[in-house]
Amino acid sequence: YEGVGGASLFTEEQEALVVKSWNLMKKNAGELGLNFFLKIFEIAPSAQKMFSFLKDSNLPIEKNPKLKPHAKSVFVMTCEAAVQLRKAGKVVIRDSSLKKIGAVHFKYGVVDEHFEVTKYALLETIKDAMGSMWSTEMKKAWSVAYDQLVAAIKTEMKPSS
Ligand code: HEM
Repeated sequence: YEGVGGASLFTEEQEALVVKSWNLMKKNAGELGLNFFLKIFEIAPSAQKMFSFLKDSNLPIEKNPKLKPHAKSVFVMTCEAAVQLRKAGKVVIRDSSLKKIGAVHFKYGVVDEHFEVTKYALLETIKDAMGSMWSTEMKKAWSVAYDQLVAAIKTEMKPSS
């Protein structure tokens, strides 16, 4: 799998920017992942309804015990896929598979708009975390990596057999 335009479009400079920022964010991945999801729901409140563990709960979302672990794992997965993109030459997912993730998102009815909102929320989360280190180049690097991940997930978005 080569993604849209191929993972080879991800340059060495972009890889370095993603690796540098991920190294600074790693230890706060739980908090950052939570911020990331809260931003998604701020922009697209209706997306909450897709999550089984939010739908059936009366707690405010930021207090939901299942949200933080889920948010952290999605954030870490997204960042790790970005970090290994150039070396692997393709999107690689840890602790799961693109097939499974594709099937789950197909089943829950995730559409392009959700991926776009999520991209915006991801970039905002990393921007906030980076402070003065944030740059247009860094933004571009994360955008390219995220787009590759989404393209890879979309190729597997079909009913599971
Ligand atoms: C579930 C990853 C984007 C909605 C999951 C799971 C993973 C994951 C690993 C758990 C799958 C399992 O059951 O094993 C990702 C990654 C994304 C992404 C890496 C990067 C783009 C999105 C977007 C949405 C979304 C954009 C919609 C706003 C969901 C829902 C579930 C889910 C509704 C099921 C949660 C539940 O169990 O109730 N995702 N996801 N995901 N994801 Fe995503």
